[in-house]
Amino acid sequence: MNMMSVILSGVELANPVIPASGTFGFGEEMSGWYDLNCLGAISFKGTTREARYGNPLPRIAECGNYGMINAVGLQNPGIEEVLKNQLPRLRELYKGVIIANVSGFSVEDYRYVCGLLDSEERVSLIEVNVSCPNVHNGGMAFGTTAEAAAEVTRAVRAVTKKPVYMKLSPNVTDIVPIACACADAGADGLCLINTVLGMRIDIRRRMPVIANRYGGYSGKGIFPISLRMVNQVARGLLQAGYEQVPIIGCGGVETAEDVIEMMMAGASAVEVGAANLRNPMVCKEIIERLPEVMRELGIAELREIVGACA
Ligand SMILES: Cc1cc2nc3c(=O)[nH]c(=O)nc-3n(C[C@H](O)[C@H](O)[C@H](O)COP(=O)(O)O)c2cc1C
Repeated sequence: MNMMSVILSGVELANPVIPASGTFGFGEEMSGWYDLNCLGAISFKGTTREARYGNPLPRIAECGNYGMINAVGLQNPGIEEVLKNQLPRLRELYKGVIIANVSGFSVEDYRYVCGLLDSEERVSLIEVNVSCPNVHNGGMAFGTTAEAAAEVTRAVRAVTKKPVYMKLSPNVTDIVPIACACADAGADGLCLINTVLGMRIDIRRRMPVIANRYGGYSGKGIFPISLRMVNQVARGLLQAGYEQVPIIGCGGVETAEDVIEMMMAGASAVEVGAANLRNPMVCKEIIERLPEVMRELGIAELREIVGACA
């Protein structure tokens, strides 16, 4: 194993840096910027049972250097098209670990899509999004109570042998019982956080900037929140005796130093989202800078710092 490699439920990643779902499509556009094979893994666009156009426009609100609000609403071509065309194309572009990000509007939706992915050898790990703030009747609703999150986890667990990571929402009062309920229901790991519910107003028009009114805030501004939540969950899981439930930390990561901080908080790997939209080269730049930061901090192997501050 090399000094930057990390392991997620038996799946080895050459480094911990993963473009987050929804900010990297299926790799095609990004492959014009650099060779994707430097990435630790890729989490592809949230996929649902049926194709979805997403929410009405406008669905993006800029927030200066601090991030952005999106209300894309899970626009995707549907699982059939993903399996038939997107995934084979992604595999041509990228030989590393592919994470399938799945969303649904009913427990049956999640079960159906994950059941199809189970026999897909190009997918190493399934990330189950129960935290999308931009769709009604589902998405985040499943991630805001321990019971609903556990129900989805159990349903998915029953149809796949692949590692299942539940992607949780920050829009809750206490995330720890939800994380523990997912672990109890058979989740192999967790991914946190999805976007933080937010809003911007166009003060000239006196109207919400986003057609859907509210959206998910992500990017630099949410880093202290995601770090806090990863740390709370890492500590909560340890205290409850779950020692083998890795966390993928996500939210506001932009630099190699952020990756180290997120891993010290308790993450075994790290996703980078909105930063890709500002600078398409950011994941490659982080990966190239990591060895230098490790040297500066006297870190021999990245794996050794996971949970150093948990
Ligand atoms: C435009 C956009 C689309 C997104 N789509 C998805 C999605 O389909 N599935 C998902 O689980 N998360 C989705 N997310 C959330 C990100 O994967 C990530 O959890 C969140 O943005 C926080 O990370 P960041 O601050 O690095 O962006 C999306 C985020 C953005 C900005």
